[in-house]
Amino acid sequence: MEQAVAAGVLEPGATVEPIRRLAAELGVNPNTVAAAYRMLRERGVVQTAGRRGTRVRSRPATVPLDRTPLEVPAGVRDLADGRPAASLLPRLAEPLRRGATAAAGRGYGDDDIAAALAAGARATLGADGVPAQHLAVAHSTLDAVERVLQVHLRPGDRVAIEDPAWANLVDLLAALGLVVEPVCLDDDGMRADRLQAALARGARAVIVTSRAQVPTGAAISPDRAGALRHVLSHHRDVLLIEDDHAAEIAGVNLAPLAGATGSWAHVRSVSKAWGPDLRLAVLAGDPTTIDRLRARQRLGPGWVSHAVQEAVAVLWHSQPAQTLVRNAEREYTKLRTALLAALSQRGVPAHGRSGLNIWVPVRDETTAVTSLLGNGWAVAAGSRFRLASSPGLRITIATLRASEVLPLADATARAASSVSSRGV
Ligand SMILES: Cc1ncc(COP(=O)(O)O)c(C=O)c1O
Repeated sequence: MEQAVAAGVLEPGATVEPIRRLAAELGVNPNTVAAAYRMLRERGVVQTAGRRGTRVRSRPATVPLDRTPLEVPAGVRDLADGRPAASLLPRLAEPLRRGATAAAGRGYGDDDIAAALAAGARATLGADGVPAQHLAVAHSTLDAVERVLQVHLRPGDRVAIEDPAWANLVDLLAALGLVVEPVCLDDDGMRADRLQAALARGARAVIVTSRAQVPTGAAISPDRAGALRHVLSHHRDVLLIEDDHAAEIAGVNLAPLAGATGSWAHVRSVSKAWGPDLRLAVLAGDPTTIDRLRARQRLGPGWVSHAVQEAVAVLWHSQPAQTLVRNAEREYTKLRTALLAALSQRGVPAHGRSGLNIWVPVRDETTAVTSLLGNGWAVAAGSRFRLASSPGLRITIATLRASEVLPLADATARAASSVSSRGV
């Protein structure tokens, strides 16, 4: 079945055969088929859809070998990808050259964290109120999150995450055999009362996005951080992971939760502000989590290239690069707030307190996405991000031009009020 999904024979959403029928066809015990389905579920290939049986996940963890990215038709503006604007990122050639020079000769047996990177991380995380005595370096947010989860959890454990959530995170949890516990959020981040309920239902870990939440742009406010900390103070054994992926360009200050439980990690990727191709994220955490993670990492990639770590340290110390990043943050904030204001003037409530995206609630995603596409705008349907939450559109503002704000707001207002011919 996994091969059939990889080959594209079994497509996303396809129903798989009922256990008894497949067992009869193959001449095996139904328990054997049930066990195989369980493994497929734990590998993130299929999901159980209640009485509707078992289906191939909409984004199965088994990737078809020839999968090509979705093509945006010619002449359509792509505001669907969630990525930072390449034109607002620092150039990497010189930092990489200097990083390689600084790291020359380093390799096996050397400290897995470059001293310059550690010093920079301690200074910035410390200034943001994140205890940063214990650090590790990973290849990306998801690499860090996966490693932290594997230090503490087992397949079948429940993990509370925001709903709607970053689709890749949902896919990762499925691939690790972890059970998602969706928690509502508002503009100020994950709701504390809903987190409490999720923990009461047995969630063993919680993953929060500090700011620039994907897809809604929510950011944890100081008040909300206090309320979440209060809830977590009664669950000291819960694993807390903070994803601060857009730190320098989020447009709002960090209200940290780090240290609210005994096991925690604060993950700060350099992708959004400094460059996605650096593939580097720094984590701070409690000593046990960080020690276990680094020990396990040693038995895998070993370490993140010292040359890249040094290059990131060079970027962090470079005045011109800092200026570019501050400029990017201003630019994103300007575009986000301009689009939100234009939508509000048109009577369309939308969200986007921070980061690269805004979220527009709609009644029918398919109709709204199609309507916008017809007007030359590609945006992401909320279904990619939603678990139990209501429909919406994610619009990435990163590459928007100021002159496009009003036409986009007009098209979005039309799309948001459109209702499908089926009367959804
Ligand atoms: C919520 C969230 N966290 C983190 C990231 C960055 O991930 P990475 O560090 O793997 O580039 C993204 C990228 O889109 C994201 O949306």
